[in-house]
Amino acid sequence: MAAVTSEIEQRIAQLRVELQRAGYAYYVLDRPIMPDEVYDRLYRQLQELETQYPQLITPDSPTQRVGDKPASKFTSVKHRIPLYSLENAFNLEELERWQSRWQRQASKVNDFAYVCELKIDGSALALTYENGILVKGATRGDGVRGEDITQNVRTIKTIPLKLNLDNPPATVEVRGEAFLPLDIFEAINQERQERGESLFANPRNAASGTLRQLDSKIVAARQLNFFAYTLHLPQSEISSQWESLEFLQEMGFLVNPNRKLCQSVEEIAEYYRHWDLARKNLAYMTDGVVVKLNSYRLQQQLGFTQKFPRWAIALKYPAEESPTVVKDIIVNVGRTGAVTPMAIMQPVQLAGTTVQRATLHNSDRVAELDLRVGDTVIVHKAGEIIPEVVRVLIELRPANTQPYQMPSHCPECNSPLVRPSGEAVTRCVNSSCPAILRGSIIHWASRDALDIRGLGEKIVILLIERGLVNSIVDLYSLEVEQIADLERMGTKSAAKLVAAIAASKQQPYARVLYGLGIRYVGSVNAKILAENFPTIEQLSSASVETLEAVYGIGTEIARSLKEWFEITANQALINSLQKVGLQFQNFSPTDNATQSTSLTGKTFVVTGTLPTLKRNEAKNLIEQAGGKVTSAVSSKTDYVVVGEDAGSKLAKAQQLGITQLTEAQLLKLIQGKS
Ligand code: IVH
Repeated sequence: MAAVTSEIEQRIAQLRVELQRAGYAYYVLDRPIMPDEVYDRLYRQLQELETQYPQLITPDSPTQRVGDKPASKFTSVKHRIPLYSLENAFNLEELERWQSRWQRQASKVNDFAYVCELKIDGSALALTYENGILVKGATRGDGVRGEDITQNVRTIKTIPLKLNLDNPPATVEVRGEAFLPLDIFEAINQERQERGESLFANPRNAASGTLRQLDSKIVAARQLNFFAYTLHLPQSEISSQWESLEFLQEMGFLVNPNRKLCQSVEEIAEYYRHWDLARKNLAYMTDGVVVKLNSYRLQQQLGFTQKFPRWAIALKYPAEESPTVVKDIIVNVGRTGAVTPMAIMQPVQLAGTTVQRATLHNSDRVAELDLRVGDTVIVHKAGEIIPEVVRVLIELRPANTQPYQMPSHCPECNSPLVRPSGEAVTRCVNSSCPAILRGSIIHWASRDALDIRGLGEKIVILLIERGLVNSIVDLYSLEVEQIADLERMGTKSAAKLVAAIAASKQQPYARVLYGLGIRYVGSVNAKILAENFPTIEQLSSASVETLEAVYGIGTEIARSLKEWFEITANQALINSLQKVGLQFQNFSPTDNATQSTSLTGKTFVVTGTLPTLKRNEAKNLIEQAGGKVTSAVSSKTDYVVVGEDAGSKLAKAQQLGITQLTEAQLLKLIQGKS
């Protein structure tokens, strides 16, 4: 071990303070104070110093969020103070009844207030800090005993490893909800679906499943988050829930900002109605609001029943489950060839939308449910989540139903379906199955992949049916005239689509990688891969070991990549896409050599009403193709795109002798055809 000097100690301490401050600003405040590169550099400096002087590593160092070794199992821990759950109210009458009840039980209250908080649909955690340092993180368990998951809790970036207090108390316990943001929840489920694993029914199950992962590296990659809502701090001056939330925030926790102090049931009702609508704009899932009496004195007076505090209640949102009848069971063939059974049901209203299809995941799941056509079932849908059948009401089953049998042949191409042993998924393995082609093109055009606007499912089906497209590469040789012939198309929309396809050539390498639809390579993994293997040649020639060594890339992804690149047809696909001009390497914005197009570095002004493109559509297309759009014409303007009723900008352009383009000419320029 190298000898420690006081300078080294000081440097390490400074780096930790700086990194902790930056992490807090980034994750909790959402107001970064330094560029990511600077953070990464400082982090690496600290890591290097800690490798050199391991005796100086402390558990609160920002480098200690992810453990080296997976745990073999979790140990059970007894909670110092039990974790109670909450009584539910399903409507405002029940809330009022609760109010009358506690008012009868408490003595002489004329002044009181409620704190309303969102009820986060996650998994409760109890965190213990000793002298300001996080020493334990435990799950709720049965409320009395939970599991020690400290190593996983440390990966959550919004949980401070060290409290932001000058004189931390000997012990503090903080409780709150760990949750998965909805976009991450969906990405995880998509990956699980591709892998043929059962899906998480909701973000709550996904959060608790993730927290119970033995390998903290996996937990870190899943990006859990945490809202703190309860503080247990003995002998403090804090006397209310509201103050405790503020204090939690001061200590460095993320506290949900959507809280409100209310004086009456009417005010609570207003808060509840507001959030029942506004919750669909939140990045995380909530299943109701929690109402707590603000005063600690009052809370103490009321105490607890066997299960619940008498001073708090959860006011839940309306049902997201409903009974309905299954009319048919069909199968859907996805882009990976995975065959998913789906229930077609009598339409029901759920979570604000009409639902008539629900996923049944795979044949095991159908067998487990023993679902049959004609059955009455409970369907569940929450927020953006795919509806699913959760239960069959066997008592309501009509006579003469038959158990469901998966088809033996693909409904799209009639080739025999296979189910590899040990896998839950049944697949069509005919690589030229139209369903697979259709799925891969829809995926290629999707928002997180190449983002080709206007290339939706209906058009894709037509393009394949007409034999215009037999692979992704064919998209890039489509002519306006060919598309204009399709139903409900026309020359104008066809030109727009061709331009959007051409503009997709400028999309970054990471998106292309995701668009290829390689198993397990989701959009997050694609970004990680593109960062670590800046060219497709480097990526395709990397060994499984090299791939696995990258943080966030597991064995499954590594193997899947290797297998994918070994297939000759895939190599040919990449070659052809490269020839057409798609990006297969990272470039820096200044590096023109690899990304130059006829629009690179050119400045455009759009004026007047264009025949088909809206102003911002034209702007997006120009920018995607590498051009810049400004609002005023000057000598620096290269092109003015002119529509009907163009006014002073056109006059100015004529005066300065700037090239004018019609919409059609612009679209040609983007396609590189002028
Ligand atoms: S307070 C004694 N506040 O809901 C008070 N709980 O159904 C206990 N939850 O177990 C909890 N958001 O996991 C509280 N703002 C919030 C909450 C919340 C979500 C969860 C928590 C609890 C469950 C009860």
